[in-house]
Order: sequence, then C-alpha cells, then structure tokens
Amino acid sequence: MVNIQKDISLKPYNTFGISANATGFVEVRSEDELIELLRKDITKEPFLILGGGSNVLFTRDFQGLVVKISIPGISSTITDDGIEVTAGAGVVWNDLVMYCVEYGFAGMENLSLIPGTVGASPVQNIGAYGVELKDIFKSCTALEIRTGIKRIFSLDDCRFTYRDSIFKTELKGRYIITSVVFKLTDQPKLNTQYGAIQDELKSRNIDDPTIRNISDVVSSIRVGKLPDPSTIGNAGSFFKNPVINANSFSKVYSNFPNVVHYSMSDGMEKLAAGWLIEQCGFKGIIVGNTGTWKHQALVLVNHGRATGAEVYSFSEHIIETVNARFGVLLEREVNIM
Ligand code: EPU
Repeated sequence: MVNIQKDISLKPYNTFGISANATGFVEVRSEDELIELLRKDITKEPFLILGGGSNVLFTRDFQGLVVKISIPGISSTITDDGIEVTAGAGVVWNDLVMYCVEYGFAGMENLSLIPGTVGASPVQNIGAYGVELKDIFKSCTALEIRTGIKRIFSLDDCRFTYRDSIFKTELKGRYIITSVVFKLTDQPKLNTQYGAIQDELKSRNIDDPTIRNISDVVSSIRVGKLPDPSTIGNAGSFFKNPVINANSFSKVYSNFPNVVHYSMSDGMEKLAAGWLIEQCGFKGIIVGNTGTWKHQALVLVNHGRATGAEVYSFSEHIIETVNARFGVLLEREVNIM
C-alpha cells in the first residue's frame, strides 16, 4: 500500500541539504506499488521523481507530489557474452559498484562513489574517469507515467550523449525507470587512461591493478577532491563541461592558449568548466552561505544555511562572469526546482 504523506521536509532527501517542503510525498518500494500509485491519477498535480536527491537544487517549496523511488534488489546472471547484472532503481549506485567489485564483475569500477541511485544513472548518463554509463548499459525498464504501461529501453533507445539521454529530452517527465540491466565482464579491460588514476596507482606501487584497486583508487581521488555531502551539502558538478565547436574554440584558444580542453571524436572541443571558473577567481570562495569547493571549482556548496535561491543566484553570477571573460556559456548539470 502506498502511503501519501502531506507537508514533508525535503531536507533529508537532497544532498545539497536545502530546506524546502513538498505538499505531498510518497516512497515506492516496488514496481507494483508504483503501478498502484500511477492508477491514482497522480499526474493531475505537479510531481517530481526523486532518487538519491544528489542532482537537484530546490529553490522553493514544491507544490505537488514528490515520488521517491526506493525499489531494491540486485541480481546477476552469466550469459554467453558476459555477465548481466540487474538492479532496482532505488539501489544506491555505489552499493551496486561494490557488489560488482566483490564478485569480480568488471566495467563499473571507474564509476565508484558517484552519489545517487541506479534509477537516475541512465537519465544523465553518469560518468567519471573515462567511463560513462552507456559503456556498460544493456537496457532499462520504465513505466509510462500517463498509462502505467511498461517499456524496455535498449542502449540505442536511450540516445546517450555526454550527461544526457532521451529521459532528459524528448521523454522528459514521461517515464519512471524501475530497474536497469548492466552488461559486465569477468575478463576486465581496465581503463586507466585518466592521469589521476595513473598517478595514484604509481604512488601505491601497483603495476598490475585489479578492479578492486581501480575502485579504491577512484574512490580515494573523489574523496580528496569532492566534498562529502554528509558534512557539506553539494550536488557534485554543478555545471556541465561546455562542448563547443572548432570555430568558437579557436577564439577562446587565441586569447587563452592554456585553456584546459579535450578534443572529441566529432571535432568538438570540451572545455574544463572547473578551469574556467577558477580563472575567474571563484575557486574556494565563500559568498554568504554558499560558494565553490576549495579543491574543485565546479562544485557549489552549502556551508550550512544556504537557501536554494541563494545558490542559484551565485550560479547565475558564475555563468555571467565566465561568459563575459571567455565568451562561453556554462549550462547547469543540476536540476533546478
Ligand atoms: N580544473 C581546474 N580547476 C578546478 C577544477 C578543474 O583547473 O577547480 C581543471 C584541471 O585542469 C583538471 C580538469 O579541469 O585537470 C578536469 O578536472 P576533473 O578531473 O576534476 O574533472 P571535471 O571535468 O571537472 C568531470 C565530471 C565529474 C567527474 C570527473 C572525473 C562533469 C560535469 N564532471 O569533472 O563528475 O567525477 O570529470 O571524471 O563532467 C559529477 O558529474 O557530479 C562529477 C563529479
């Protein structure tokens, strides 16, 4: 039985630790409970699907129903071409990574310690240290909100690109993911191309790393660089790294030849947003109750009593300053509510 609660504080449900209330709140623990909820015709009022709340900034109270997806469960099967792992949308992402590392299932070790839940992982094609979700994704099951009808989305259906998918574009607000199937392997092809991983392996004298080594190394790089939401509220990278065309890039490059950038296979250039923000003097600054993190300027933080509106207005200031200096428009990665 789903239990819809009224006037609930969302503070425990967002890693920014922002105070905001929702007029309605419900936690669903199975696909059947979700179907039952959709039958209640909840779609008449505004609603918001919440996983770990690690990619959202509440700038006001939410007048509508917050649906927290807490569908559990991890299982695995061995197939002819590898290992398939299925996880419920409510599984904490890093619990899944730890399960796979424990069993020797390779493919997601570079994605260790990313906050959030399994159900949110395809929505923004989470990625870190040279691996994106799309590299290990097989399919996901989702329910159409309007009809409750179940649909399986294949890799191609999801149209994954950098921090983007069909669930953020054409199908935004239309489906709720209930489980995800991952394609992993027991024949690891480790991805150690990222400089920070290589440096950390070297400093630990590891020449022939295991997937557990990679997971440990990635976790410790993240802990060193990113603030822990249980002590300092944040939602990871607040902005996306901007991707610009060759023409725009040559303008930036001619004025700032030391700009940190990565050439992409399609001729576009991805700029390091953290570098752009740092160059504007924002790294580690404190503005009222908000600011940027001292080790990573791309992460905005709540120093304790920030309101969502305050963080949002600071992010506007960053966007304007970066644009005025570099002619590059930063786009937020975090969902603004
Ligand atoms: N940099 C700076 N100053 C900063 C931050 C970064 O100059 O304050 C420059 C440095 O040159 C650094 C480069 O930017 O070498 C890249 O920085 P980093 O390795 O920290 O990665 P990122 O591009 O800032 C992205 C993801 C992270 C992910 C890391 C590692 C986005 C928006 N963010 O950050 O993902 O962990 O790569 O792969 O793509 C997240 O999405 O929440 C997230 C944390």
